[in-house]
Amino acid sequence: METRIVKARECNKQTKTAICQCIRQGGLVAFPTETVYGLGGNGLNAAAAKKIYQAKGRPSDNPLILHISDRTMLHQLVTDITPIAEKLITAFWPGPLTIILPKSKIVPLETTGGLETVAIRMPDNQFTREIIQLAQTPLAGPSANISGRPSPTTAQMVYEDLHGKIDYILDDGDTIIGLESTIVDCTGTDPIILRPGSITYEMLREITPTIQLDESLVQNPRAAEIISTAPKAPGMKYRHYAPLAPMILYEGNVTTVLKTILGLLDNLHNKLPCRESELCKNYPPKIGLIISDELAAALKSHSNSPGYDLIDPDLIYSYGSLTDYSTIGANIYKALRFFDSTTADFIVTQGVDNYGLGVAIMNRLRKAATFTSMFL
Ligand code: TXA
Ligand code: MG
Repeated sequence: METRIVKARECNKQTKTAICQCIRQGGLVAFPTETVYGLGGNGLNAAAAKKIYQAKGRPSDNPLILHISDRTMLHQLVTDITPIAEKLITAFWPGPLTIILPKSKIVPLETTGGLETVAIRMPDNQFTREIIQLAQTPLAGPSANISGRPSPTTAQMVYEDLHGKIDYILDDGDTIIGLESTIVDCTGTDPIILRPGSITYEMLREITPTIQLDESLVQNPRAAEIISTAPKAPGMKYRHYAPLAPMILYEGNVTTVLKTILGLLDNLHNKLPCRESELCKNYPPKIGLIISDELAAALKSHSNSPGYDLIDPDLIYSYGSLTDYSTIGANIYKALRFFDSTTADFIVTQGVDNYGLGVAIMNRLRKAATFTSMFL
């Protein structure tokens, strides 16, 4: 199948009509949102949902989000809109918030992975909302990556994963946020955050003070792995976003992480751990670094340390300043994908504070990491 790439800004009426026809007839169209690119199909068509699972290589028990263009569509898809859901919608739509409500009969179980609830969001991308409006059907859309790969934040990343498997890629440039939407379950008495995103716990609590974090997200600070109970969003149980090379995540402040990296370089320099280590089949190993601007600068000032020459400047990806988590969020998936095109043997990543937007960033980094280490 030929995958056509259409630039949002240059898309004329005729092409829009062809795209909408393709959606209505069960075709697959990757679409831009403010978070990440989605892999869209007609959300009310069971066959389209099956095609989405197939194209992504995704287990079909992992439900899809329905993307809508307006409130009228919402009313058709759910049986009830609770007052809390109403408040959240008013505060954050269009925007990076997905809400879960009881589904109406017209939503096929194939779209919801067999659940009687449905996840819905109104994306903050005008072109995508216009396409949904013209197609007159919600777009079922998981992130437009092959299952397990980092979510795509550019049309080029979608192309890498899905060309030949889908009909269209609608290109609207880089996504702004770069992390998937916050998911809030509104089916119970108190709303529950199932997946952290750029609409943070603190922002949600201002609107609805009884909001809870799903137990699976409540972190035991001394445990390396945060998932202790079964997550309620089925997708959260899978190891996600993984780069191809093993990744070590160091959580702590710049000074402690710097010290650890210098210690690691010193060890590698002495070849001590490498004789037996699975990680170091190649010696000297190629080390990829995903770190803040601050840590990159601090590392540079230690260029005389033993093992420093093992660092290849081309394998340092600075994700931005620790004073600007929005930029870090927008760069995380770019960084993970960057290393898939390099020959790094392993990746060392610096974590951020688990607060505000940092909660969503750390959630993704911990899922991507093979090992995590905390310095408390
Ligand atoms: O920002 C986003 O949310 C992006 C863009 C494309 O909109 N979409 C996205 O979709 O991240 P996906 O499929 O990669 O993640 C959807 C998550 C999964 O973890 C899934 O298990 C959960 O939402 N989910 C969907 N429906 C659900 C439901 N009824 N109950 C609980 N969790 C649900
Ligand atoms: Mg995804």
